[in-house]
Amino acid sequence: MNDFQHIAAQLPDSFRLLWRESVGSTNDELRKLAEQGMAEGLVLVADEQIAGRGRRGAVWVSPKGENLAFSILLKPMAPKVLWHRLSLVTGLAVAEALENYVPLAEIKWPNDVRVGGKKIAGILVEAGKDFVIIGIGININTTNFPDELAATSLQELTGRMYSRAEVLQELVTRMSRYVDQINQEYADALKSIRERCALTGHLVSYLIADQRREGMVRGIGSGGELMVETDGKLEALVQADEVRILD
Ligand code: BTN
Repeated sequence: MNDFQHIAAQLPDSFRLLWRESVGSTNDELRKLAEQGMAEGLVLVADEQIAGRGRRGAVWVSPKGENLAFSILLKPMAPKVLWHRLSLVTGLAVAEALENYVPLAEIKWPNDVRVGGKKIAGILVEAGKDFVIIGIGININTTNFPDELAATSLQELTGRMYSRAEVLQELVTRMSRYVDQINQEYADALKSIRERCALTGHLVSYLIADQRREGMVRGIGSGGELMVETDGKLEALVQADEVRILD
C-alpha cells in the first residue's frame, strides 16, 4: 500500500481518492469519468503525468514520484457564473496547506501560489456541462529548477522531504470547507485571499485577448476581480493571462 492509499480513509466525507501510477493528465482522466456520470468529490492523483497541462496550452512537468499532481471533481450548488471563483478559493486552500511548512504562501491572481517570490503551485480550473474539474500541481520534493522557471518546492525552501499524501490530505480538508464559500460566504474567503495577494501594490503587465497591457494593482474586488489602475482609471479584470510583476 502506498502513502496515498493510506490517507484514502482519512479524507473528509464525500471525498474519495483514486490513485493512478501514470496518466496523461489527471484533468483529462477525471473529465472522462465525470462525463460517464461519476459523483462529485472524486480526487484523482497520479504518481506521474506524461501529458500534464498548464494554462494556455503550457506543458506542466512533474517528475515521477516527486510532486503532487491531482484533480478534484466538483458539482457546485452555486450558479455556474460563479464557478470561476473556485480558482481563488483553491489558491487559498493551497496557500494555507503550505503554510503548515513555510511562513507565508502568496496567491498570484488568478491561479498561482508563490513562496518567496517563486511559483510553487499552479491551478487549472476546467468546467464541463454540470461539473468542474480543479487540477492542482504542487512542487513538493523536486529541487534544482531552471532559473527561467522562477519555481521552487517545499524541499528547496526547507531542506527536507515531505510526504505528498500528507500535503494532499491537508489540502482536500481545506477545499471541503471552501468550495461552498464561492456564493454567500465569498466575502469571508476574500479576506484571507486579499491578505495573501502577491500583486496588490505592484505594477503588472497582463494579456487580455492576446493584447499586453499594464497597470497598478489596487487589490481584489468583491467578486474576486483584479482591480487595476491604468492612466487614473480603475478597471476590474475578471480574467487575464500571463500576469507579470514589473517592479
Ligand atoms: C498552471 O500553472 O498553468 C496550471 C498548472 C496545473 C497543473 C495541474 S497538475 C494536475 C492537473 N493535471 C493537469 O494536466 N494539469 C493540472
